[in-house]
Amino acid sequence: MKESLKNWYGTAAIIGVDWGDSGKGRLIDDLASRADIVARFAGGSNTGHTVCNPHGEFALHIMPSGIFNPRAINLIGRNVAVDLEMLVDVEMKALENAGVSYTNLRIDPQAHLTMPWHRLRDGLREELRAKHKKPKIGTTKKGVGPTYADRTDRVGLTVGDLVGEDFIEKLEAELVFQETFLRAFTDLMQNPRELNLEEIYHRYLKYRNIIKDLVAPTTPILSEAKFAGKNILFEGAQGYFLDIDAGTYPYVTSSHPGIVGIWTCFDLHPADIDILIGITKAYTTRVGGGPMPTKMTGEDAQTVIKRGGEIGTTTGRVRDPGWLDLVLVREAVGINRLNALAVTKLDVLSGFKTLKLCTGYLVDGQKANYLSHDAGHLEKCVPLYEELPGWDEDISGARKLTDLPANARKFLARIEKYVGIPVRFISVGPKRGEVIYI
Ligand code: IMP
Repeated sequence: MKESLKNWYGTAAIIGVDWGDSGKGRLIDDLASRADIVARFAGGSNTGHTVCNPHGEFALHIMPSGIFNPRAINLIGRNVAVDLEMLVDVEMKALENAGVSYTNLRIDPQAHLTMPWHRLRDGLREELRAKHKKPKIGTTKKGVGPTYADRTDRVGLTVGDLVGEDFIEKLEAELVFQETFLRAFTDLMQNPRELNLEEIYHRYLKYRNIIKDLVAPTTPILSEAKFAGKNILFEGAQGYFLDIDAGTYPYVTSSHPGIVGIWTCFDLHPADIDILIGITKAYTTRVGGGPMPTKMTGEDAQTVIKRGGEIGTTTGRVRDPGWLDLVLVREAVGINRLNALAVTKLDVLSGFKTLKLCTGYLVDGQKANYLSHDAGHLEKCVPLYEELPGWDEDISGARKLTDLPANARKFLARIEKYVGIPVRFISVGPKRGEVIYI
């Protein structure tokens, strides 16, 4: 599209081109004002989208970030791991407190539920790995991996089961299954009986009453909207390099944060998506286990953590900051055929005398300008940097490209040139409106 991304129309998707935490929530919150549908795919309560708007500041995990637009139908698709303790007790409560309605939410009945035992298993697996000389993955311990594992194993409970007639029978059978499974880990369990059927049943009945009118198959809603030419915005989670297949296994999440996640979630072919936005910060971060070639150290790292508030929305863990890894971004852009780039938190880099952009690696002394998705190989990559002069000005007031200092524009131009697609959105501060659309 020729006009500003702000005036987008058709079908648009937002995909992280890194290891997550790229600032998707605020872009979606912004773009959602024109959306008829905001459709969340992949991930679960492991993700955290920070939205700061006139209603307040919200950390959204499962609730689509378009919920603030009462005219948009917000869909939670079938490949999202739905944690109702998070959705109902935390997110819906926060929205209620702020006077925001969520009656415009629809949850797919095929979506799997993250249950209390999934969180237990997530923690136990991490402990077991550590005990048996496998490095910890550094998961968020939100139970998302075990939810997907059960789904792959074709066990587990769905949203549809919860609102069905025979929920108690299904819950009982599931509990017996899970307890048998968990008993195998008794030596690690302090209290294997902490899963109390009675308590869980009543808690989930409460959730059922709250969500039952919101449960509806999402694919027909989406295909009807597409047929009618409505504006549809897809909200991804995490980043492409945490993909279970394409990421740096085993330091990955358990779903597909890339474009394929939309396809499997909503039966929509990627070719039917008009605007494919890759989103990255002006620097790279990673949290949890796994290699990150451009990791910063010392004062630079502390400055970015502090200015960028690089503390996990979901876990409160400090993220490792690094210089922007353009090899990573270009790879994600190419594979997902993205056609627009969003660069967030540019303001965090103000004041650095020199900025670095990673444009290649040295692997065993040989130059490489591609990214190996193998964690062991990536571990060996030594970044090759291009250095650019920084800027001192406070850029938070910039609203158009020409408001930015020349060196900031050069920095963005170099990113565009290397990655091969235009930068269409830049954020220069955390609040709604502190952005530049191109
Ligand atoms: P899990 O998704 O909780 O199983 O965690 C697997 C890996 O993905 C860990 O390294 C997590 O830190 C990472 N991860 C999961 N969700 C996010 C996210 O939203 N942002 C950044 N990293 C994430």
